[in-house]
Amino acid sequence: MSNTQQNEEHDSIIKTPKQLITIIVLALVVPIIVIIMLVNLVAAGNAPVAGSDSLGPEATAKRIAPVARLEVVDASGPKVFKTGDQVYKAVCAGCHQAGVAGAHKFGDTQAWSVPIKTGLDAMVASVVKGKNAMPAKGGNPSLDDFEITRAVVYMTNSAGTNFPEPVAPASAAK
Ligand code: HEC
Repeated sequence: MSNTQQNEEHDSIIKTPKQLITIIVLALVVPIIVIIMLVNLVAAGNAPVAGSDSLGPEATAKRIAPVARLEVVDASGPKVFKTGDQVYKAVCAGCHQAGVAGAHKFGDTQAWSVPIKTGLDAMVASVVKGKNAMPAKGGNPSLDDFEITRAVVYMTNSAGTNFPEPVAPASAAK
């Protein structure tokens, strides 16, 4: 008895014309709604998805920007040279500011006049190689010769010379 009843229910989900019409209408309307939703989705294009506007191209560009900038400086970009002023303060001032260990004191025109007579190239060579109490490159081997030259120009120009700002190596940014 219960078996028969179950089979009958399975065989005839649609029992009345009204149910048939409902099923047919749903079968037509549901795909149309789905299509409309898909069209809206595509038409929305790159507009931020609800609740995740951080995926927009601008937001993405902003988010990756610091990393990208870091890579440019680090890997493929030209070396950014320190200015004479920066090199002096970071490396040379330790001795030359106060005139330690026989170093020519910054701004002491008379003391500087002696090495200045030898010329810029000779002074730069002394710093690159080191001289007596002055270690090679003032003790900072990572300095480029161009940075040394800038520092020497900065120091001697404060003691009477008028050297022009040295020209950067061809491959450099500035
Ligand atoms: C550890 C201390 C010390 C530091 C750091 C130092 N110097 Fe000197 N510097 C000296 C001394 C000492 C002399 C004098 C050397 C001598 O003639 O006996 C000197 C001499 C010089 C001279 C004259 C060289 C010559 O031909 O007679 C120049 C130019 C110079 N220094 C530039 C620099 C620059 C540029 C830096 C930084 C990159 C620097 N120094 C860092 C101690 C120092």
